[in-house]
Amino acid sequence: APHQNNSVTSPVIRKKLMGYVGFANLPNQVHRKSVRKGFQFTAMVVGESGLGKSTLINTLFNTPLYPPKQPLPPSAERPKTVAIESIGADIEENGVRLHLTVVDTPGFGDFVNNDDSWRPILENIESRFDSYLEQENRVNRQKIMDNRVHACLYFIQPTGHSLKQIDIEFMRRLHTRVNLIPVIAKADTLTDEGIADFKARILADIAHHKIQIFQAPTYENEDEETIAEAEEIASKIPFAIVGSDHVVQTPEGRQVRGRAYPWGVIEVDNEEHCDFVKLRQMLVRTYMEELREYTNDVLYENWRTEKLVSMGVAQDSTVFREVNPSAKMQEERILHEAKLSKMEAEMKMVFQQKVQEKESKLKQSEEELYARHKEMKEALDKQRADLEDKKRRIESGRPLTPEKNATKNRRFLR
Ligand code: GTP
Repeated sequence: APHQNNSVTSPVIRKKLMGYVGFANLPNQVHRKSVRKGFQFTAMVVGESGLGKSTLINTLFNTPLYPPKQPLPPSAERPKTVAIESIGADIEENGVRLHLTVVDTPGFGDFVNNDDSWRPILENIESRFDSYLEQENRVNRQKIMDNRVHACLYFIQPTGHSLKQIDIEFMRRLHTRVNLIPVIAKADTLTDEGIADFKARILADIAHHKIQIFQAPTYENEDEETIAEAEEIASKIPFAIVGSDHVVQTPEGRQVRGRAYPWGVIEVDNEEHCDFVKLRQMLVRTYMEELREYTNDVLYENWRTEKLVSMGVAQDSTVFREVNPSAKMQEERILHEAKLSKMEAEMKMVFQQKVQEKESKLKQSEEELYARHKEMKEALDKQRADLEDKKRRIESGRPLTPEKNATKNRRFLR
C-alpha cells in the first residue's frame, strides 16, 4: 500500500542527473536575496569610562559614526557618553548593504558604587530580545527588524595585571546573553611583552571564572586556509587594540590612521603594531554571520525558553485561579454562606425585637386588664355589700335610712 512506509525514512537514492535542473543555483538565489534585503548587524561597546570605545567604533567602520557631539578643536577631548545610545548607519560595500547599529554604553567605574553597573546594559540587551520576540509573534512577520546585539566588545583597561573584579562581574552577568569579545584598550600604552603577559593572565581569569567568550567555530572538512585563518584570529584573543580617528604622518612620510608619539607612530591598520585588523576581520569579514547565527540559535533561543517557562508558570497559576471551577464554586459557596448567616442574624435580631415589643405590650394590657378587673371587682363587692346591708335592714323592719325615715315616719305618724 502506498501509505504504509510513511513513518520509515525513505532511503536515499543517489542518482546522477541526466541534465541541468537548476538547484545548483540555490546558493546564488539565497545570496541574491540576502544581498537585496541587506544585513542587519548590531555591535555594542562596553567598558570603563575613557577607554576609547567611541573612538574604536569610528576606527572600525572607517566612518565618523561618532561625530563629536559639538564642534571641538582637534586637541579637545571627546565628550563622555552618559546614556546608552545607539547609532545606525547604512553602509554599502561592493553592492552589499549592511545596516549597522552601534550601541555605545556609558563608561562605568566612575561611581562610588559600581556593583550594579552591568544591570542597565543587560536590560538593554534583553529588551532587544523582547522586541524581536514580539515581532516574531505578530501575524505579519514579513518585516522583522533584528535589533538584537550580535557582538559585545568588552574593553579591558591596560593595567598589565589581570582582570578586575568589575570586569569579571560584568562578563559573568552578560556571557549567556551576548557574544562577548574581550579587547585590551589603548594597547599603545603597553610594551609587546607586557601585552603577551597580560593576555595570558586575562585568558586564565576568564577560564577560571568559567566565562564564555565568543569562540570562532571550527568545522570539519574545512580547507587549510580557512582553518589557518580561524586559528590566527583565535590566537589574538583578547585583541590588543589601538584606536584613532585621525590621520598622522609616519617618519617615512606615509599618511596613516594612528597615534603619534615622540618615539614613533603607532599604526592602527598595521598588524605588526596591534590587533585592530584581526578584530575587524573577525567582526566583519569572517564571523559576522557566525555571530548573528549564534545570537539567534543559542543566546536568543535560551533566553526565549527561559522567558516562556517563567511566563508559563505565572500564567498557569492565574489560569488556575480564574478558571478552576471547583475552587471558584468553593469560594462562591463560602461567600454565599457568610451572606446567609448574616441575614439570619439580622432576622433573628429583628424577630427578637418584635417579640419583645409584643411581650411588653401584652404585659401592659394585662396589667391594664387586671387593674380594670380589680376595679370592677371592688365596685361589685361594694355594691353587694350595700345590697346586703339594705336587705338586712328591710328584714329587721328598720328604716332604710334612719334620719330620712325618721322624718318620714314622723310625718307618717302625724
Ligand atoms: P566614555 O564615552 O566616557 O565611555 O569614553 P570612551 O570609552 O568612549 O572613550 P573615547 O573614545 O571618548 O576616548 C577617550 C580618550 O582616549 C580620547 O582622548 C581618545 O583620543 C583617547 N583614546 C582613544 N583610543 C585610544 C587608544 O587606543 N590609545 C590611546 N593612547 N588613547 C586613546
